[in-house]
Amino acid sequence: MLDNLGNLERTDSCGALRIDDIGKTVTLMGWVAKRRDFGDLTFIDLRDREGITQAVFNSEDSAEAHAKSKDLRGEYVVAIVGYVVARAESTRNLKIATGDVEVHARELYILNDARTPPFQLDASPDALASEDLRLKYRYLDLRRTQLQANIRLRHRVTSEIRAYMTEMGFTEIETPILIKSTPEGARDYIVPARVQPGKFFALPQSPQLFKQLCMIAGFDKYFQIAHCFRDEDLRADRQPEFTQLDVELSFATLDQVYTLIEGLFARVFKLINVNLPTPFPRLSFAEVMDRFGSDKPDLRIAGMELKDLSSQLEGTDFAPFASALSAGGQVKGIAVPGGASLSRKVLDELQEFAKRYGASALAWIKLGDETTSSLLKALGDQVVNRMAVAAGANKGDIVLIVSAKPKVVAASLGALRNEVAKREKLIPENVYAPLWVTEFPMFEYHEEDGRYYSMHHPFTSPVDEDLELLQRAVEGEEKELLAKIRTKAYDPVINGVEMASGSIRIHRRDIQRLVFKALGMTTEEARQRFGFFLDALEYGTPPHGGIAPGIDRLMMVLAGTDNMRDVIAFPKTASAADLMIDAPGEVDPKQLEELHLRIVEE
Ligand code: AMO
Repeated sequence: MLDNLGNLERTDSCGALRIDDIGKTVTLMGWVAKRRDFGDLTFIDLRDREGITQAVFNSEDSAEAHAKSKDLRGEYVVAIVGYVVARAESTRNLKIATGDVEVHARELYILNDARTPPFQLDASPDALASEDLRLKYRYLDLRRTQLQANIRLRHRVTSEIRAYMTEMGFTEIETPILIKSTPEGARDYIVPARVQPGKFFALPQSPQLFKQLCMIAGFDKYFQIAHCFRDEDLRADRQPEFTQLDVELSFATLDQVYTLIEGLFARVFKLINVNLPTPFPRLSFAEVMDRFGSDKPDLRIAGMELKDLSSQLEGTDFAPFASALSAGGQVKGIAVPGGASLSRKVLDELQEFAKRYGASALAWIKLGDETTSSLLKALGDQVVNRMAVAAGANKGDIVLIVSAKPKVVAASLGALRNEVAKREKLIPENVYAPLWVTEFPMFEYHEEDGRYYSMHHPFTSPVDEDLELLQRAVEGEEKELLAKIRTKAYDPVINGVEMASGSIRIHRRDIQRLVFKALGMTTEEARQRFGFFLDALEYGTPPHGGIAPGIDRLMMVLAGTDNMRDVIAFPKTASAADLMIDAPGEVDPKQLEELHLRIVEE
């Protein structure tokens, strides 16, 4: 028989009681986290969102409550009325905040029972049940202290963000979810329009065009905690639906955006008691690719920068290097502190790792008691020693070397830098190293389909000095110039994670047209897709710019997890499924009919 809550009210949370409360009569409510039955004594760990309190049942305090406590099982929902008692010195529990006291129960109300959970809720992190099982019963997994803490921290973060943006004069504006495709490089999720047969809405990949329209509408400073949808190949740091702090401001200079966002991050990191060093250093895309092989370098890793070794190899007839260099490639290396002790096996693993990024091999020089190298036979000890010096290696280090096209050298050495630093524990803990990566290229050439794509998105402004290159590339048909154009785009990066992306936008219709042309869009195509926006650009568009920090990525860094699902209440799997509600699912044939849709079996 279950009890009614009636008028019973909680006096305290399960995380509240301390020595000062001894003697007080309290009413606690929560879930049975653990029950230990010693016959004449029953111990219950009572859990709610604030913590755990130990309750004790014995027949002296109440024979009835003690008898009833025998019925309790894990995850039963109960109310306990009792009085607070100091625990004996030997039974104090230093692991929990309420561990100095316990509640001796006089009344027990069983408000609800529970089936045995399909997995253990208080398992240690390395003994957790499979993630798929936990996702199916997400509401149970969310009862775990860690997930409770993450989701509640997320609320504090979004509250702080709203407060900060409001103080800075920004207006929160909701933009629609049922829209037309906005190009952010991923596939759209589409929604059939019942009342217009054959037509579809797309879910926003971001509110990009709407926020620019808010600037044209004169709102001056806009923000939104916006849900975005992207049908893309998922990785650990991506979800098909995710949240951005979407920001746009009029008459914005680069410095204004940098200062605004540094202030925002500094404020949010204070919530986890971290003083983020501001201003963030600013490094151009060209510089970070050259030095770190990545557009999101992890600056916690000291040194290990990519060094060009080509000049040590002039005139070499060692085929792999000679052919790479003559084809416009590079030979670069990174010096790993203390790496001379890496075993053959580890080096083989690192070689396989580098190959995943397109490198054909990984050469090495070890500065151990004597210098050994995979290149010694081919190049001789003089050249090898010169290369080690050029790489900045010291005694005890190893130099890891890749020769290939610049893109492959950057990708493989950039990834190796992170991988080796992680393996060799060269990344200091509790350090936060932010930077701005600036001046991203405007276009990227995709060899597979022989055309240029926007590296950020097509509304990004070129740097003033490169506008002429854009004009020449499009109007003078010097297409190869497209690859040289730099933009006013910027990404803040913290500890190797791209936290946001943004740019100063194009506010002139003539330049916007040039960009669409450069992307291979005919005037008709541009009109068809973006006519409304090209029109709007004609009615007095202020210079403007913005940015969108990813809230889920930010939360991962703040919560210290590698798994984005740990910071989202109801996340999706890597195959974009919700295992709890079993979505996506099939729909009724009648629904399909109404939508004028037919499923074609392959
Ligand atoms: P971008 O596409 O770079 O820019 O996205 C901005 C930030 O959003 C986060 N993010 C994601 N987080 C989780 N899952 C995903 N699938 C995902 N994709 C992106 C990242 C990223 O840095 N409209 C532009 C912004 C602008 O120019 O103002 C945009 O959306 O943290």
